Amino acid sequence: MAKKNETRFVCTSCGAPSSSWAGKCPRCGAWGSLEQDFAPRTAPGGGKAPGGVPQARAVRASEVPLLDRIPTGLDELDRVLGGGFAPGSVSLLAGEPGIGKSTLLLQACLALARRGRTVLYVSGEESLEQVASRALRLDGQPPPLDLLASGDPEEFMDLLPGRSLVVVDSVQAMGDGESLPGTLSQVRGVAARCIEGAKRSGVPLVLVGHVTKDGQIAGPKLLEHMVDVVLSFEGDRHTAYRILRSSKNRFGSTDEIGVFEMGEEGLRPVADASLLFWNGAEGGVPGVAFGVTLEGSRPFVVELQALACPTPFPYPKRTARGVEVNRVQLLLAVLEKRCGLSARTADAYVNVAGGLAVRDPGADLALCAALASSLLDRPLSAGGCLVGEVGLAGEVRPCPRTGARLREAARLGFTRGVVSSFEEKNFDGELEVVRVGSLSEALAALFPR
Ligand code: TYD
Ligand code: MG
Repeated sequence: MAKKNETRFVCTSCGAPSSSWAGKCPRCGAWGSLEQDFAPRTAPGGGKAPGGVPQARAVRASEVPLLDRIPTGLDELDRVLGGGFAPGSVSLLAGEPGIGKSTLLLQACLALARRGRTVLYVSGEESLEQVASRALRLDGQPPPLDLLASGDPEEFMDLLPGRSLVVVDSVQAMGDGESLPGTLSQVRGVAARCIEGAKRSGVPLVLVGHVTKDGQIAGPKLLEHMVDVVLSFEGDRHTAYRILRSSKNRFGSTDEIGVFEMGEEGLRPVADASLLFWNGAEGGVPGVAFGVTLEGSRPFVVELQALACPTPFPYPKRTARGVEVNRVQLLLAVLEKRCGLSARTADAYVNVAGGLAVRDPGADLALCAALASSLLDRPLSAGGCLVGEVGLAGEVRPCPRTGARLREAARLGFTRGVVSSFEEKNFDGELEVVRVGSLSEALAALFPR
C-alpha cells in the first residue's frame, strides 16, 4: 500500500508519475518537466466499511436515455463534434496562440445566441470591451450574449445552469486561488472544477487551452485525459486556412475535420477545401504531382512538390514540409531498390503546397511520382492524379475510399487517375483509370521511354 505522505511528481509533458524528482522525465525524455503533485490520493477501496458496500445495479442499454446534441449552427464545428456539443460534456479546444480559438468559440456562441439560446463566454485573458467589440464586429449588431471577465471558476459555477454552452477562455488564465498559473496543479484544479460544474448542471463547457511550440498542451497532457473531447485548431499562421480536428471524442468519431478560412469577418467555413490546397495549376513542371488525401471522410486534392538537386555534402539532405521526413526517406529507398532510381547524390526537398499536413499513406504514390519526376527532371503528363500506398516491396496498395478520391479529382477537372491494380472496385466514371501493381509499373506509365 502507498505510504500516506509519499511525495509524488508528475511530468507536465506526458503525465507520467514518478516517486522522486529528476531533471529529465524517464518516460518522454523532456527536461525540467517534473513537478510536484499535490493531488489527494486515496488507496484503492479505502474509506469503505467492509460489508457496507452498496450493491451496484446494471441497467439495460436500451433503458439508458440517449444524449441529445446541441448543434452550434457552425456546420464545420458541428461535424467535427459529431452533431454538436453533448450536454454536460467538457471539451478542450487546443491551439497555438493567435490561431483563432477565441474567434471560433465566440462565433459558436453568437450562432447559438442568435437562435435564442443562452450562452456564457468567460474571458480570463481579454477585457469585456475587447470581447464585446469583437463580437459586434463578427455579428454586425449588439450580440445577445452573456459575457463575464473572470479568472476564477468559483465565480461562475452558479451561472452555468440552463445554458446551452459555456466557454472558458482560457484554462491557463484561470486560477484556483492557490497554485501558480500554468502549473500542473492549477490547470488540473481549474479543469476539475469546470468538469464538476458541467456534469452537475448538464451544460456543455468548452475550455480553451494554449499549446506550446512543440504541440504539447501547455500545462499537462493530463488535461487531455480529464476532458470528454479534445479538439485542436491547426494551421499555418501565415496562411488563412485553419483545420479543426478531434483527437479524442467520447461522443463520436475522431475522423472528421472542419476547414475554415480566417478573414476580415472572422472564420468562414470552407466547403470546397480542395481549392485551398490546389490552385488549379495543371502541373507540367518536373517534381510536381497530384494526389488525393483523405481527411476523415473528405477527400482533398493535394499538390506534392519535390526538388532533387546534386548535393555538395557526403550525406545527402532530406527536408520535408507537410509530410514526415521518415516517409520521404523510406520512399526514396523503395525508389532506389525497386525501381533503380537513386537519390544518393541528391539533396531532396519535399513540400505540400498550401501548407496542409498530409498523414495519409494514400498520398505515397503521388509523393514517389513527384520525387521520381524531379530526379528524372521530367514532368508528369497534365491532368493526372495518383492514389495509392507504396509498400516496401515496391507494390502499390489499394487505399480506403479510392472511388470518392477519384470522384473528387474528376470534379476538379482531372482526366486520368492512377490507382492500384489490387483495387477490387471498378471506377468507371469521368476519369480514365490506369491500374498499376507496382511502383516501377507506375513509373513506366508516367514516364514512357
Ligand atoms: P484569436 O481568436 O484571438 O486567437 P487565439 O484565441 O487562438 O489566440 O484570433 C487571432 C487572430 O485572428 C488575430 O491575430 C486576428 C485574427 N482575426 C482576423 O483575421 N479576423 C477576424 O475577424 C478576427 C476576429 C481575428
Ligand atoms: Mg484567445
